[in-house]
Amino acid sequence: MRITIFGTGYVGLVTGACLADAGHEVLCVDVDPAKVDALNRGEVPIYEPGLAPLVVHNRAEGRLSFTNDAAAGVAFGALQFIAVGTPPDEDGSADMRYVLEVAATIGRHMDDYKLVVNKSTVPVGTADRVHGALAEALVARGARIDYDVCSNPEFLKEGAAIEDFTRGARIVVGTDSNRVRELMRECYAPYSRNHDKLVFMDARSAELTKYAANAMLATKISFMNEMANLAERLGADIEQVRLGIGSDPRIGYQFIYPGCGYGGSCFPKDVKALERTAREVGYQARILSAVEAVNEQQKRTLFDKLAAAFDGDLAGRTVAVWGLAFKPSTDDMREAPSRALMEAVWSAGGRVRAYDPEAAEECRRLYGERQDLTLVDQRYQALEGADALVICTEWKEFRVADFATIKKTLALPIVVDGRNLYEPAAVRQAGLLYYAVGRGESV
Ligand code: UGA
Repeated sequence: MRITIFGTGYVGLVTGACLADAGHEVLCVDVDPAKVDALNRGEVPIYEPGLAPLVVHNRAEGRLSFTNDAAAGVAFGALQFIAVGTPPDEDGSADMRYVLEVAATIGRHMDDYKLVVNKSTVPVGTADRVHGALAEALVARGARIDYDVCSNPEFLKEGAAIEDFTRGARIVVGTDSNRVRELMRECYAPYSRNHDKLVFMDARSAELTKYAANAMLATKISFMNEMANLAERLGADIEQVRLGIGSDPRIGYQFIYPGCGYGGSCFPKDVKALERTAREVGYQARILSAVEAVNEQQKRTLFDKLAAAFDGDLAGRTVAVWGLAFKPSTDDMREAPSRALMEAVWSAGGRVRAYDPEAAEECRRLYGERQDLTLVDQRYQALEGADALVICTEWKEFRVADFATIKKTLALPIVVDGRNLYEPAAVRQAGLLYYAVGRGESV
């Protein structure tokens, strides 16, 4: 099949590369010429395991290419995926400008049947709006050409996107048309061979499915963080509780890891957007509000624990930070708990020495050169001259640490662990004061 993808951000690029790898011919369109040039040279601007080789290989095979020319993009594919961004507006609702612009562009240039596939995370009702934008553009040219719009939300996790695309649990398609069902079956056939993963439903339900999935996962996390905060005050160990409840298959082990709050570009944005959508239709989504409030509070816990260890006075102190990305295997720092921590340390007059295996450059881009931030290339270097260590991201290389070296290098033996990486008894045995999340000892 010939497929066009608008937007070479995270979702567009993964979708394009995976569909090309499955044998389709894919043309990706982006408005940013520098990005298109880089991609045409085989340079992938985001860090995602496995993505760069996939892009390079499929470009070399001639199945994947990139262009700025939107009209050429419209002419190319029978399927036109919209995978452009929907950044949050001031009020938390998703900004639909780019999605609707692409829809209008397709309407302006198409001269035969097109199936427009919404891949961006969009509020319920967007398929209808895309339909409207297309119809308007066609009417303006006096053209009568057949088209369909369907919703096909993505469920990719950063760091595991290729795996999620190629071996995902389900492929949700929102449509009520048989023609669309057949085209989408053909498009995803390579990834739906062993058992039929396509789940068809109406477009609104598909759109809500995306938000409901993320909101459910965010709810699990905030719920566990609330239990962790309770455990801390009750002298219980949340890690034992986690195993105790996860073993019930109705609850399951996944997404019940307590920590310093969820970050990233999806959960915070989608929970807010769904809450806002609820308000618009006259419903107060109390669970969603609580999920968000607990998360905001949780992102503060690292600083609160740290400040308590210093009797509230961090002025002139240096804090070592392990992990800047919002989670491992990415360089993404959007809404990362590390940012809430560093910003609070700076406001309190402290300094930060940080190490992250991938996100240092992103950190420099976000905060620029500043006196109270030093980025280092190695985890133990971060401890030199620091008064305490705070762990924000559970990168693999932090899972095993030499506690004696930590003790020897830090000026004061204080470790705040936002990801519960270590056995508290072992850390304390090394002479460190260890503050984890929900593990009996609250500061
Ligand atoms: C999330 C969803 O998992 C994907 O299914 C979805 O497609 C994607 O959003 C999206 O809407 O595009 P992602 O944001 O990449 O994916 O990251 P996750 O692995 O879900 O982690 C999100 C946050 O939750 C991270 O900050 C992580 O540290 C935190 N988390 C996760 C916990 O604190 N505890 C857990 O048990 C699991």
